[in-house]
Amino acid sequence: MSEIHICEVGPRDGLQNAKHLMPTEAKKAWIAALAAAGLREIEVGSFVPPKLIPAMADTAEVVSFSREIPGLKVVALAPNLKGFQRALEAGAHKVTFPVSASRAHSESNVRMTPQQMVEEVRRCAALPHPGVEIEGAVSTAFGCTMQGAVPEDDVVRIAAALAEFCDAVALADTVGYANPAQVRRVFKKVSSAIGKKLEGAHFHDTRGLGLANALAAYEAGVRHFDSSMGGLGGCPFAPGASGNVITEDLVFMFESMGIGTGIDLDALFEARGILARAIPGEPIYGHTPVAGLPKGFVPA
Ligand code: COA
Ligand code: ZN
Repeated sequence: MSEIHICEVGPRDGLQNAKHLMPTEAKKAWIAALAAAGLREIEVGSFVPPKLIPAMADTAEVVSFSREIPGLKVVALAPNLKGFQRALEAGAHKVTFPVSASRAHSESNVRMTPQQMVEEVRRCAALPHPGVEIEGAVSTAFGCTMQGAVPEDDVVRIAAALAEFCDAVALADTVGYANPAQVRRVFKKVSSAIGKKLEGAHFHDTRGLGLANALAAYEAGVRHFDSSMGGLGGCPFAPGASGNVITEDLVFMFESMGIGTGIDLDALFEARGILARAIPGEPIYGHTPVAGLPKGFVPA
């Protein structure tokens, strides 16, 4: 049994910020390969206005394809009620809402204040959504490129509000400002406020601390991580945002520590090949796939 649960967010967080559009058929092949490598949860896209993010225009088709993959939890991001309705219609198993703790980022990203966004999610959660999980992701929880420091009390307050009606709450370092000491402290604060509802950690590797932050979160009790193959990613509405913590390296870190992820690294590298061929010219990062597995490596 896996001790760690990884949600691959490349098809959403990664492709929303990529310079190159990935054709729908390539997205499907990539998602199928990720699932075949053992990823049990994939954020396959977002329901945002296609004019705003053309790379996400085919999300409904990608969701309905992904639903047919046995055992896969299909996640989609929604920024508002309309996005939520589209996600339900398409058949997403889980819908994630980005709720920024920074007012400046919230207004740039969803044109709502944090409080207005909390109310938007509350309205969505009040609608019938049988069998569909709702996650509130507190974005810019560790700092914001527009606002600067984000008070930890604001993060706790938003997480506590979301915990009233969401199935799960995640903390996201949208712009890669977090450090391990801060991660330990903020996760502990939020966890004492909302207990088990605090589930996920979403880190960006903008300043090279993605893995260190993931490890700090693990030590603070977190078992659900978002990551992105090839380290793609970043919010187009947060200046300076860059890629997520790299799935290949995150899996290697945990597996080499003897902590099971349920993911097969060789199969993961094959999925990376599909990604690289699907958007040639897009920089794809990762240490483990380039260096190869250590001689005699034994997964957890
Ligand atoms: N999906 C598709 N279309 C949508 C939509 C959605 N989720 N939400 C709104 N629209 C449409 C409206 O119907 C309207 O269409 P019309 O011009 O044909 O009438 C148009 O978009 C504008 O609607 P409005 O409600 O005024 O939205 P807005 O322009 O204030 O934008 C958001 C608000 C939330 C839709 C937008 O800021 C957004 O999508 N943000 C998310 C950005 C993102 O993905 N960030 C990265 C992930 S964290
Ligand atoms: Zn992100």
